[in-house]
Amino acid sequence: MNLGELRREYSRTGLRRKDLHADPMRQFELWFQQACDAGLGDPSAFSLATASASGAPTVRTVLLKLFDQRGFVFFTNYASKKAQQIEENSQVGMLCHWLPLERQIKITGRAEKIPTKESAKYFATRPRGSQLGAWISPQSAVISSRKLLEGKLCEAIETLAGGEVPMPEKWGGYRIVPETMEFWQGRENRLHDRFCYRKQESSSDWIVERLAP
Ligand SMILES: Cc1cc2nc3c(=O)[nH]c(=O)nc-3n(C[C@H](O)[C@H](O)[C@H](O)COP(=O)(O)O)c2cc1C
Repeated sequence: MNLGELRREYSRTGLRRKDLHADPMRQFELWFQQACDAGLGDPSAFSLATASASGAPTVRTVLLKLFDQRGFVFFTNYASKKAQQIEENSQVGMLCHWLPLERQIKITGRAEKIPTKESAKYFATRPRGSQLGAWISPQSAVISSRKLLEGKLCEAIETLAGGEVPMPEKWGGYRIVPETMEFWQGRENRLHDRFCYRKQESSSDWIVERLAP
């Protein structure tokens, strides 16, 4: 297969400074809504990059479950590899890619645990199967077989006997508090539009800069 032939022009639309909201969260909201309206599969899925204290990076997909002026919230296992890395180094990267719209949003910031109460509120809204899955899976640990998980699932179903699934102690949300947010729109001849919002140190205002593609 000749991967060099796998290419296309990006020509849907452009991004102009005058179209951008002064507030990057409003701009995110607009693009997120447009990704949902376009019927893209899993528009809330994003790539989350974390790094150990020594700088060794890892990346994986997680689901965005909430965003507001404070940042972006996802849920996970607090003993997972990503959680271990966040404990060592709270700096993370977040990438939303909506390729059919020829767009990506690249965010950098710091991840912090959300209050247990807020995680519990969300946990209670999850489908029972997802609640049980979170309960029994030692996420990121080496396990001997799938059978082990299935056995634990049967045990949990029996033990709980239809009762409420309590939120596991090692499960909850992280909020990514953004420090930079870059909006990327594909353009012809690889001359893409990129605008990066950067938080000013002295105030809560954002500076917007155009970056070369
Ligand atoms: C579409 C999709 C959505 C996912 N959403 C989550 C999620 O919200 N939380 C999570 O912990 N893992 C999620 N995962 C699984 C992660 O990608 C990853 O396998 C898991 O969190 C373990 O990562 P770690 O070992 O780096 O901590 C998702 C995977 C995919 C493909």
